[in-house]
Amino acid sequence: MILNSITIANKEILPLIEGGKGINISTGLTSGLWANCGGAGTFSGVNPDFYDENGNYVKPIFNGKSRQERQKELIDYGIRGCLDQAKIAHEQSNGNGLVFMNILWEQGGAQELLTNVLERAKGTIKAISCGAGMPFKLAEICAKNKVFYNPIISSARALQLLWKRSYCKFKEWIGAVIYEDPWLAGGHNGLSNTDDPLTPEKPMSRLLEIRKFMNEVGLKSVPIIVAGGIWWLSEWLDYIDNKELGPIGFQFGTRPMVTQESPLAMEVKQKLLNVEKGGVKLQKFSPTGLYSSAVENKFLKELENQLTRQIPFVEIQDKGIGFDIPVELTANKKTVYINQGDKDRLNKFINDGYTSILKTPSNTLLFVNNERYNNIMTGMRDCVGCLSSCLFSAWTQREGMTIQPDPRSFCIQKSLQNISHTNDAENNLLFSGQIVYRFKEDPFYKNGTFIPTIKELFEQIKTGY
Ligand SMILES: Cc1cc2nc3c(=O)[nH]c(=O)nc-3n(C[C@H](O)[C@H](O)[C@H](O)COP(=O)(O)O)c2cc1C
Ligand code: SF4
Repeated sequence: MILNSITIANKEILPLIEGGKGINISTGLTSGLWANCGGAGTFSGVNPDFYDENGNYVKPIFNGKSRQERQKELIDYGIRGCLDQAKIAHEQSNGNGLVFMNILWEQGGAQELLTNVLERAKGTIKAISCGAGMPFKLAEICAKNKVFYNPIISSARALQLLWKRSYCKFKEWIGAVIYEDPWLAGGHNGLSNTDDPLTPEKPMSRLLEIRKFMNEVGLKSVPIIVAGGIWWLSEWLDYIDNKELGPIGFQFGTRPMVTQESPLAMEVKQKLLNVEKGGVKLQKFSPTGLYSSAVENKFLKELENQLTRQIPFVEIQDKGIGFDIPVELTANKKTVYINQGDKDRLNKFINDGYTSILKTPSNTLLFVNNERYNNIMTGMRDCVGCLSSCLFSAWTQREGMTIQPDPRSFCIQKSLQNISHTNDAENNLLFSGQIVYRFKEDPFYKNGTFIPTIKELFEQIKTGY
């Protein structure tokens, strides 16, 4: 298949990009090798692995007593990790490839991390791809360091807002605009309040709107990168060399997870190779409050199941409306009251072993077993402030803001570290795009027995099939 090149950050490349995947799933190694094939590779700057002087992985240890202190340690580890991964990517791409770093704007200490890394990683990172939140300050920090930025957006409206408030002042540093399909892409999804999670829209109309706006503001030659749901390029012929869309590239997130160089354990790769159609859930359990797409495994099923074990409560007994059944909260032994009508459900939950009782911010009581309760409590206690604010632990780095912890969520830092460092694909969050079921159908993977190298995958994608 003939693929015309595009230019990003002053470099001509094939229009194929490896998307950033945290934590530590797209790395210096994978992104550098991808860039070396002639595309652009993105390593994740979200708490990436770092190494000692002998090149051995260092497991981060947190000594801080408070969450603020631990967040400081996390940011320092993050900076070390980004610098290590940038160096590896640079070497793997023979010092010549197009390497991006991805951060989430809502990750804890994002601005401090970005400023430090860009000042110290000169010449290795060519652009920052960044979404999850409204990264107004991204443009200024990148421009100051003479590094390009690739905003990740899911609608023209989001780009317009970013543009008006900030990006119009730093327009020459926009490398590409990444359109991440909010229904199909793996990881966190940018569904807005007006998007129906159950009614996906085809990307074409949104892309045309984005291009129209970009043309109006003088970004005609800046490529748009489409991300989400891309498998065979032969299925995207309408988009390739489409004059109205202008220069366009394709970002792959899920496919590079199953390569020889992907850091995931073989058990995790096998899980991905065997997902059936419909096996990925678009749900809202993430402590960021965003929608996200992940493989339905034991972990996700438990989060879904526990939603059915909730009972509304009041703090003060109110016999008039029937809220007079006392229930003791597990953590502080305080008594609250549920309705007479929920007595049978209460008894059933207790008899089934869901004897630990927690409050949620929706004025319900959540019933979990002891194991899950201990997990929730240690997760909240050990919080290292990986997000700017977290629905699960109620941590926030924003002064004056308070949140009530929500035990229906989970510690995403712990779970994503586990998925990239252990072989447990069942009891952790396994982000993936909706298209993951294609692994099983695509003859390239020989019924799950063939795992390509990055180079083999890149060459295969170039064929269009
Ligand atoms: C496991 C996984 C982790 C991801 N993590 C991030 C991330 O940290 N930041 C980000 O901007 N996008 C993230 N993404 C999105 C990818 O960069 C990419 O845009 C998306 O996966 C493309 O859709 P696809 O999965 O259908 O190929 C992640 C995707 C996956 C599958
Ligand atoms: S509880 Fe976990 S996910 Fe939430 S901010 Fe703390 S470390 Fe991050």
